[in-house]
Amino acid sequence: MGWLYGFRVPHGMLPKQELSPDGPANTSIIFELLEETLDVPGDVAECGIFRGETLLPIILFLRQRESHKLVLGFDSFLGFDESVIVDRELGGACDVSKKIGGFGDTSRALVANRLHKWQLNPNVKLVSGFYSKTLDNWADHRFSFVHLDCDLYASYRDCLNFFYVRLSNGGIILLDEYNDPPWPGCNKAVDEFLAENSVSLECFESQNYQKWFIRRCDDNSSDLEL
Ligand SMILES: C[S@@+](CC[C@H](N)C(=O)[O-])C[C@H]1O[C@@H](n2cnc3c(N)ncnc32)[C@H](O)[C@@H]1O
Repeated sequence: MGWLYGFRVPHGMLPKQELSPDGPANTSIIFELLEETLDVPGDVAECGIFRGETLLPIILFLRQRESHKLVLGFDSFLGFDESVIVDRELGGACDVSKKIGGFGDTSRALVANRLHKWQLNPNVKLVSGFYSKTLDNWADHRFSFVHLDCDLYASYRDCLNFFYVRLSNGGIILLDEYNDPPWPGCNKAVDEFLAENSVSLECFESQNYQKWFIRRCDDNSSDLEL
């Protein structure tokens, strides 16, 4: 069913042969961390929607758990901008998408139609545009769970700076490309952020997938009121 309708489901993900951090987002890990943050105040966000393969499962999961959290989906829906040039210079494994317009084979309408088909529109907002322009419009929101699946150095840097200060106590930012060979810009942005903010990473392993995440656990998370 997931394959047919173009979104990932836990049983559609074959376990890896060996434990490794490469490869696409893993729905089981997303669901586990969403579960952990259901009672944390704030919205859910995903940066890096493409065609909605992980956004739809996130929304379906929340609906199944009778959660009424607002879900914000951020993407240019045009693929990568010129900041991908920095990532090309950083090297890493080859990936056909590592170019201006990479992951551009989508549109806001395509994802909106999928949401409509599954009647998932309530409580979901698709925010179209590059993060440097769109994120600040949501500055008064707080977040319980954020899935970053946006590949590039500048995208990770902008998202971490925006979301971490808006994460409620106990909230989680899941980092899809940390240690993923084609995308060393993710590691660069995350490592810089960790060094500047005295934050540490946690690792989650499932089906031989390894994904890293940041959990906010401090008293400063009440700085911003919802
Ligand atoms: C790997 S794809 C997302 C895959 C999706 N989560 C899935 O599982 O199918 C990365 C997405 O990030 C988006 N993206 C990366 N940097 C961005 C930026 N600075 N502003 C807006 N969108 C960005 C791209 O447009 C692309 O759709």
